[in-house]
Amino acid sequence: MDAIIYESNTGFTEHYARLLAEKLGKPAYSAKEAASKLAKGSEVIYLGWVMANQICGLKKAVRRWNVKAAGAVGLYPLSETNTNILIAKNKTDFPLFYLRGGLDHSRLKGMKKKLILMIRDNLIRENDPQNAELIKVLTDGGDFVSEENLTALLAFALML
Ligand SMILES: Cc1cc2nc3c(=O)[nH]c(=O)nc-3n(C[C@H](O)[C@H](O)[C@H](O)COP(=O)(O)O)c2cc1C
Repeated sequence: MDAIIYESNTGFTEHYARLLAEKLGKPAYSAKEAASKLAKGSEVIYLGWVMANQICGLKKAVRRWNVKAAGAVGLYPLSETNTNILIAKNKTDFPLFYLRGGLDHSRLKGMKKKLILMIRDNLIRENDPQNAELIKVLTDGGDFVSEENLTALLAFALML
């Protein structure tokens, strides 16, 4: 495995990429940097933030590098159902690990900010007590990045 490549909108995915890079002793590059620094076909772990169930930048990364595993960084709590949706929507033929990221309203702009508030308002309308935590996070923001969340991905990466 040669490097970790990431695409991050507000910094949570980048934080995971840096933690993983440190643990593995490999470089972490943004997808932009990697385009000039990393040879095509290099073996990589790709981390991308999740927008509407799509792992941002993953399709492009698969065309250029040999992606051995991917990390999907989203806001929803870790659940098998959500991870299976992400696997189905992103059509990965390599292992996919879910990493809970966070939300920082001060770093969101324009349409993305509006969409987050729409998601929150839809959840409020659903009136399901199970969504209370997520509604609070969508309102106030939060940071769930931790080394512990990387345990499964790290174990897999160490076998590569
Ligand atoms: C427009 C928009 C759509 C999003 N859609 C999802 C989603 O479908 N599933 C999810 O878990 N998180 C979703 N999120 C939350 C982000 O994936 C989460 O905030 C992530 O940690 C951002 O990572 P970053 O800081 O690296 O950009 C969405 C965020 C935005 C702004």
